[in-house]
Amino acid sequence: MNATAVADFFQFFRSYLSNPWQVSAIAPSGQSLARLMTQEIVPGTGPVIELGPGTGIFTRALLRRGIAERDLLLIEYGSDFVRLLQERFPRARVLWMDARQLAQYERFTAPASAVVSGLPLLSMSPRKVIAILTGAFRHMQEGG
Ligand SMILES: C[S@@+](CC[C@H](N)C(=O)[O-])C[C@H]1O[C@@H](n2cnc3c(N)ncnc32)[C@H](O)[C@@H]1O
Repeated sequence: MNATAVADFFQFFRSYLSNPWQVSAIAPSGQSLARLMTQEIVPGTGPVIELGPGTGIFTRALLRRGIAERDLLLIEYGSDFVRLLQERFPRARVLWMDARQLAQYERFTAPASAVVSGLPLLSMSPRKVIAILTGAFRHMQEGG
């Protein structure tokens, strides 16, 4: 484990202790999952929205896939994570908001080519999950 991964673990664990329901995991996802989650995403086809990026493990995988940082819209509800993401990905748009509110907003960008979710959907109510999915599809281009 490198120094960043160790720092991310502690940051994540602290966030989990202060808000277990929202964070829903004691540690960030690993590289293999990040690769799997992002493997179908094709660069140059439009903005990509990421829901619940946490410390940005999927975000980094998106950049490695060739998605331009300025094409990323990161939606995160944890304020400590938001600050970290703003520092790490200064050219991405980082929004501090509940992903549930997505459907209520006009598009922030051109329609997204993909939405990647790191949200703990299984610990959310069906009503909340439906609101999040409705918002995600509203912001996505046809065929996204
Ligand atoms: C299980 S963690 C996953 C973090 C990261 N994607 C990873 O795989 O390491 C869930 C993330 O979703 C965020 N989150 C939870 N509910 C949210 C909501 N309603 N809107 C936006 N972000 C939310 C949490 O703050 C946390 O960063």
